[in-house]
Amino acid sequence: MTLLIASLRLGRLVPSHNLTCLTRHLSVKATYKPGDKMTIAGKEYLVDHMNNITPHLLSHVGKNLHLQKHHPLHHISQRIIKYMYGRYLSPRGNPLFSVHTHLHPVVTVHQNFDSLLIPKDHVSRRKSDNFYVNEGQLLRAHTSAHQSELISMGLDNFLVIGDVYRRDEIDSSHYPVFHQVEGVRLFTKSELYGSHQNMEEFQLFAKGEPGSRQPPLHHPDTVQLLETDLKNCLMDLANTLFGKEVEMRWVDAYFPFTHPSWELEVWLNDEWTEMLGCGLIHQQILCNSGVSDKVGWAFGLGLERWAMKLYEIPDIRVFWSTDPGFLTQFTFDDPATPVKFKLVSKCLPCINDISFWIPTESEFEPADFYDLVRDVGGSLIERVHLVDEFTHPRTGLTSHCYRIVYRHMERTLTQEEVNQIHHIIEIQAADTLGVTVR
Ligand code: PHE
Repeated sequence: MTLLIASLRLGRLVPSHNLTCLTRHLSVKATYKPGDKMTIAGKEYLVDHMNNITPHLLSHVGKNLHLQKHHPLHHISQRIIKYMYGRYLSPRGNPLFSVHTHLHPVVTVHQNFDSLLIPKDHVSRRKSDNFYVNEGQLLRAHTSAHQSELISMGLDNFLVIGDVYRRDEIDSSHYPVFHQVEGVRLFTKSELYGSHQNMEEFQLFAKGEPGSRQPPLHHPDTVQLLETDLKNCLMDLANTLFGKEVEMRWVDAYFPFTHPSWELEVWLNDEWTEMLGCGLIHQQILCNSGVSDKVGWAFGLGLERWAMKLYEIPDIRVFWSTDPGFLTQFTFDDPATPVKFKLVSKCLPCINDISFWIPTESEFEPADFYDLVRDVGGSLIERVHLVDEFTHPRTGLTSHCYRIVYRHMERTLTQEEVNQIHHIIEIQAADTLGVTVR
């Protein structure tokens, strides 16, 4: 609010009706102080010094694009569910997988990190990479956050589909909210090896040190069988969505919660694109969840990534568009209907730079600046990136220059409109990040 008044005093914000939607974000700058309550998707949370959830981000929580009928993310998730239902059947012919699409996005630090064996000092826990509600809770950074609790509840085969949140750079393929599908499949010895008369000859686990308190290691045959099932499942999924001819390759990867781990890359539109991460679930996670006689695999994939490739959608912001020109392209009931997305119009961008001296006494994080830009400019921000950085030889002060690309999805912005938003960004950056605009 102060900001709007400040800007009006400066005579920069000329209210006009077609600016109302542009400036909507500017007046809602709510500040949550430690001790305040924050309502997130219908639940109240106590805020503390760790909270870094901006009003712009908060406005996305609970939108659940993956549940919206005819939304491209819904179509893709339906196709994945159908595929998994059909692939794994009980002896009586029922789907083995259960599907969880309504799990609340606020999770504990334990769920998001500890339960997945992510070390206490791991970079992925940083405030600059996540949206924390308070010290103990955050908006989940991945659907893997639910693995452990669902396994503890006794589930052996499940999918979790939901919105996930990461503080990231801003460009056409990154948005602070996106959607993931998590798949988990557990096996008993006879489910993995099949039933044989001489079952004792088969072992899920390699012989460990006698009396060792370490979780057991997978027997090499167990690794082989799990790896084959996992990779075949995911390659067939990619073939189901992208066609039989699509070229794929496996790349070794690392995740603290799976070993071994891989990423699947697919050759589409003349480039290799990483489509998912997966691996064999660390046995410690199963032991901690009360399961000692099973082994399993897990995968996680980003729905936007799949949809952008499948429909040739060039910009991730499109998924949040409520423009009929976008939505009507997906208004059909059979999720497997082929679509080649037509961008309603790629209106001209406006590019403005901002340079400032960063404060020496506090820790300046580019992520704080990215959030601020997104908070003020909303979905008009197509890209923000650091174009120049230098340290003054005499004063020792460091200057950053960021290039902000503004683009409306449906119409061309005027330079004047963009200047107004840009100016608010300058004022806010000085106000809240302590930088000195040059
Ligand atoms: N959670 C991982 C991510 O978001 C993906 C993943 C899921 C990897 C399950 C392995 C197993 O990047």
